[in-house]
Amino acid sequence: MCGIFGYIGRGRAPEIVLEGLKRLEYRGYDSFGIAVPGNPLQVVKKQGRISDAGDCAASLSGPVAIGHTRWATHGVPSDANAHPHLDCTGTLAVVHNGIIENYSILKRELVARGHVFRSETDTEVIAHLLEEVYHGDLKCAVETILPRIKGSYALLVIARGDTRIIAARQHSPLVLGMGDGASFAASDMTPIVEHTRRVMILEDGDIASLTPDTIQISNGGNPVERKEEIIRWSVDAARKGGFPHFMIKEIFEQPDVFSDTIRTLRSEDPPSLLKEVPQVTLIACGSSYHAALVFKYLLEERCRIPARVEYASEFRYFTPPVEGLVIGITQSGETADTLMALRIAALHNCSTLAIANAVGSSVSRIADHTILMRAGPEISVAATKSFIAELAVFLHLIDMIREGACAARLDYAHRAIDEALLLDLSLAVECCLPAKDIFFVGRGAYYPIALEGALKMKEISYIHAEGYAAGEIKHGPFALLSEHTPVIAICPPGDSYGVMMSNIREMKARGTPLILLGEKDDRDLEEISDVFIPLPWASSVAGLLSATVILQLLAYHTANALKRDIDKPRNLAKSVTVE
Ligand code: AGP
Repeated sequence: MCGIFGYIGRGRAPEIVLEGLKRLEYRGYDSFGIAVPGNPLQVVKKQGRISDAGDCAASLSGPVAIGHTRWATHGVPSDANAHPHLDCTGTLAVVHNGIIENYSILKRELVARGHVFRSETDTEVIAHLLEEVYHGDLKCAVETILPRIKGSYALLVIARGDTRIIAARQHSPLVLGMGDGASFAASDMTPIVEHTRRVMILEDGDIASLTPDTIQISNGGNPVERKEEIIRWSVDAARKGGFPHFMIKEIFEQPDVFSDTIRTLRSEDPPSLLKEVPQVTLIACGSSYHAALVFKYLLEERCRIPARVEYASEFRYFTPPVEGLVIGITQSGETADTLMALRIAALHNCSTLAIANAVGSSVSRIADHTILMRAGPEISVAATKSFIAELAVFLHLIDMIREGACAARLDYAHRAIDEALLLDLSLAVECCLPAKDIFFVGRGAYYPIALEGALKMKEISYIHAEGYAAGEIKHGPFALLSEHTPVIAICPPGDSYGVMMSNIREMKARGTPLILLGEKDDRDLEEISDVFIPLPWASSVAGLLSATVILQLLAYHTANALKRDIDKPRNLAKSVTVE
């Protein structure tokens, strides 16, 4: 759940690594650090964010550097717990993303042999283990100690006076970049793309030795080759491109993301698994879980295929009877809960399908099949365009099952997003700003859209928000409704319209401020509302897309008015690689 980046070349390595770490801050941002392997080995590490640290690399120089940006798992955010971690003699430096599961046993053994630990992290054991076996050949030392480590790691190691970076991967992502007289290693492609488009994705068990001009990889002691891939993202896709935050940039990318995903899936030949299965189990976390719930509603209603949705974190430990197809949905492709749940599904002899955004991510190594959603790099911690891309994948799959019955509508559905992006939501924002609690309600496939709206609101504005199936509000939450508790209700035309109106009237009777999303020209809804938001394409499935975008924008503008740290909300990280 951290970001690591290493550079070896002919440029000013500390500055290059520092810039790269800024691109990785979405993976964690409670502390950071850089090491360069001069003589002596030099380290700068600090609690806090790189963006607030000024020119902290000024004291460092040299053509090789490794760096880390942290999301604390073992030990509080502090200067001491920030990576890189060193051995007792200050000869070796390590940065690590992952979890060393047997670190406490290893630490006890190392302390008993006289090693002195300076941090509370699991990572520091790696530096001390290396210290015991390093005699000038860094790669050999790394190869020797890795079998003793249980857990997950992507790590970079340097040694005083050595002109190489050694990289190793086990269950945590690690990408290598090949530039012109420079090599790179990073947790993902975002810090690499501005230097080179040629990358290789390491496999579990790989150990790589990087020099400016060569990369040698071995696995189990044998040399191996990994396929070179070319990154197609533009550099701008990983930068803000004039927007004040990544989140709003990513919200505005959604019309393209939706149509790119549909277009690309049509040009490929996605696995036809869904046509053949009696039932489907969907597993995911957070926003991806909400997208999966939308899919469940549509799959059951439109294709009559039974579907169940499980939190990946529950599925792993409380596995229900499961057969047929299990689909794991994960933007990052690295969410530990989803990866573990897919492994469990495979143990139950289920076919597994991953729906992921990041090319080469861990989930595609676990699942039998993978469908890529084409959202491009999502930097903001709050998922937006990946949610829309997930919906695009699901709508495409439904279209496939229905043999193209919805194809024409999908061609135009992105316009619903375009129209939603043009709406003025300032009155709705004003209504939300003073609130301590906000309820989001919907029915059918709009219920998970309400859940997603509430998640967006709480994670970036820090206002407590709950999503509910509209009919459930009167079974308890009604007790909380008052003139200080806005309710945001999605009320498109359709079978549940009448009963939604009754629910809305019941809430109105409690003095609750009502922000209502409904079909343009719905006078009844407009009259009863405090703020009415016309829902573009309310009467078709594309209404789901426009409702999603409206709730994303509402959360964004509310959080912005409250001056929240939108792209990096407190306590969160983009890629949740711990269970
Ligand atoms: C949503 O805004 C959050 N960032 C979070 O809920 C996220 O969707 C969840 O952690 C799952 O991530 P994944 O799709 O990468 O597996």
